[in-house]
Amino acid sequence: KIVPVIMAGGKGTRLWPLSRAAAAKQFIRFIGDKTLFQGTLLRVGDTDLYEPAIVITNEEFRFLVAEQARELDAQLSGILLEPEARNTAAAVAAAAVAVADLYGEDAILQILPSDHDIVVDDTYVNCVRAAAKAAKVGKIVTFGITPTEPATGYGYIELGKEIGDGAFAVKRFVEKPKAEIAEKMLEAGNFYWNSGMFVFTAKQIVAELEKFAPDVLAAAKASVRAAAKDLDFTRLDKEAFVQSPSISIDYAVMEKTPNTVVVPAAITWSDLGSWDAVWKIGAPDKDGNVVHGNATVVDTRNSLVMSRDSHIAVQGMDGVAVIASEDAVYVGRLDESQKVGDLVKLLASRK
Ligand code: GDD
Ligand code: MG
Repeated sequence: KIVPVIMAGGKGTRLWPLSRAAAAKQFIRFIGDKTLFQGTLLRVGDTDLYEPAIVITNEEFRFLVAEQARELDAQLSGILLEPEARNTAAAVAAAAVAVADLYGEDAILQILPSDHDIVVDDTYVNCVRAAAKAAKVGKIVTFGITPTEPATGYGYIELGKEIGDGAFAVKRFVEKPKAEIAEKMLEAGNFYWNSGMFVFTAKQIVAELEKFAPDVLAAAKASVRAAAKDLDFTRLDKEAFVQSPSISIDYAVMEKTPNTVVVPAAITWSDLGSWDAVWKIGAPDKDGNVVHGNATVVDTRNSLVMSRDSHIAVQGMDGVAVIASEDAVYVGRLDESQKVGDLVKLLASRK
């Protein structure tokens, strides 16, 4: 069976002001009654395919994780807590070491981001099975999503030859390319987006980290060895963990290793990374608006308006996001949603 590892330690700053330091986007109910984190837990609920999940998150999100898992009655193999965020390479490394301890080094891991909206159907399950097969023989498996625009927030995978059972060699992995390069790759037609999920054995990812990011692996190993158990939580040792460089698994390993393969995945997938993505999955009405909660729009088009508390009324606008939380309101152009992260940095520096 596959051991699901859910990464739930990101801050999701581009979804300010709903995604906040105290409750990042994966723990919020955007649309519907489940959070993105809960959606991820449900996705790995099939006990024929999966072991109980391991969640790796930041110390400060521990109660959100525990509470939201309890709401679903979801069984977990463990909750690993990072004392400070060191990005996804450190998270993957610590999880791989912990999984090897629990299930042995041949255990197959599926790494899952917790900020995605994915539909679980036969296509999804078949892709996961194909990935597990390739992982068994030492491959680092990615899932390829057919790109629809020259997005700069994703990794791009250049398709190589078929190696069998639905998996293909990867010629090149390019993480978050510049706009011109993204456009060229989209035109070339033989590129996929990286879905952000990965499948590999604990042994293989440890070997890759050993080769391409030894500092990350050393810190992860030491932090797991010296970890403290606290009820359901496993606190990674702080002194050891913070020694890890802060780098994503995409830059640290995926761009470097020759062992990557891709399983093209015709799945319904969305990274809810920014307000334009929330607008897209929100099913815009005939005027192109998505309106949620306590809000009214008049003479307005192509806009996203969300408010939980105070009533928001928007008049005579086109292509805007107006997002109100309890204590802050964001107004911006939907086509510039990628820039909200910069705004949040600016706000933080003024505090
Ligand atoms: N535990 C932990 N610790 N989790 C983290 C940390 C951390 O320090 N940083 C981020 N995460 C979690 C996030 O919560 C998210 O669920 C996942 O790891 C991925 O992080 P993102 O920050 O959302 O990555 P991204 O979206 O910019 O890029 C990745 O996903 C894209 C697809 O959504 C890359 O893998 C891209 O190549 C890929 O295309
Ligand atoms: Mg993401």
